[in-house]
Parts: sequence; C-alpha cells; structure tokens
Amino acid sequence: MIEADAILSELEAERGRGATRDALLERAVALIERAGGSYDWVGIYLLEGETLVLHSYVGKPTDHTHIAIGQGVCGTAIAEDRDLNIADVHAIDNYLACSLETASELVVLIREPESGRAIGQLDLDSDRRGAFGPHDERELRRVADWLGALFRPRRTARSGASSR
Ligand code: SME
Repeated sequence: MIEADAILSELEAERGRGATRDALLERAVALIERAGGSYDWVGIYLLEGETLVLHSYVGKPTDHTHIAIGQGVCGTAIAEDRDLNIADVHAIDNYLACSLETASELVVLIREPESGRAIGQLDLDSDRRGAFGPHDERELRRVADWLGALFRPRRTARSGASSR
C-alpha cells in the first residue's frame, strides 16, 4: 500500500541533494508506481495555458500527451476543479482510453499552495476495476500537495514592500 511518508522523505532527500523540479516530478511518478500494488500507469500532467501536457510517466506510452481542459477524465478534473476517482472507466462517455486494459482511473490535482490554483495533476490508471480507495486518495493528495509547493512563485526581497 502506498505511504506518502516514505515517498516524501525520499523526495525531500533528493531535493536536499539539489534535484531540479523536473527531476523531482519524474522521481515522484517512479516512487508512486513502485508503491502501489495495482497502479499500472502513473503520470503527471502540467497545465500549459488551456492544455494539460504530459510531463513524466511510468507505464505504456500514451497518445494522450496533450489534453484540453474539459476533455477526458483528466481535462474534466481541471474543468470541475476537483479530484476524480473513476471506479469503472467504461461507464463514462468522456473517457480517453490510454490502454485497452485500463479499468479504473484516479486524478489528484496538483495545486499551487498560495493561490490554490490547479497547475497540473497526478493521473493513475489501473487494469483492475475500482482499484483506488480512500487510502490511495489521501496519500496521493499529500504527495500532490508536496509537488504543488514546488510551484510556489518566488518572491523577491522587495515584493510586497510598501512605498511609504
Ligand atoms: N484516461 C485519461 C487520458 C490519459 S491516459 O489515461 C494516460 C482521460 O480520460 O483523460
């Protein structure tokens, strides 16, 4: 079972060694994939304007490297500004098949902590129906929040200073 503590301590260690944000996102998908028993595809999409762009993934290559807001499960999560746990992907119309074997999907939004704005998402697919439960949702939320903090805008020493 996935444990956010183990993943976050590994990511913290990598950050301490000077890993870039891109490297940390890449590392995160690898650690998540390894932690979950029935995670068959794990990816991170980042929003670029109105489009989700695939940043890193572990699993089979997908055609869906660019997804418009509102399209598929991934784009719907952004449009509705909420995480989505789809127990049976075949039961919904608005689904973009990544692989024929996929049966369930979980999208957890990555938010910039200060504005709360979604800047991307963790996307997980499983070949097992109903593979994602409250434990997965909770632990992945913690990982997504940690990743979101990597996107906090940098402040200059003077920003916010009064001109008086
Ligand atoms: N199934 C997703 C598309 C991404 S792939 O699963 C990798 C969707 O419906 O948005």
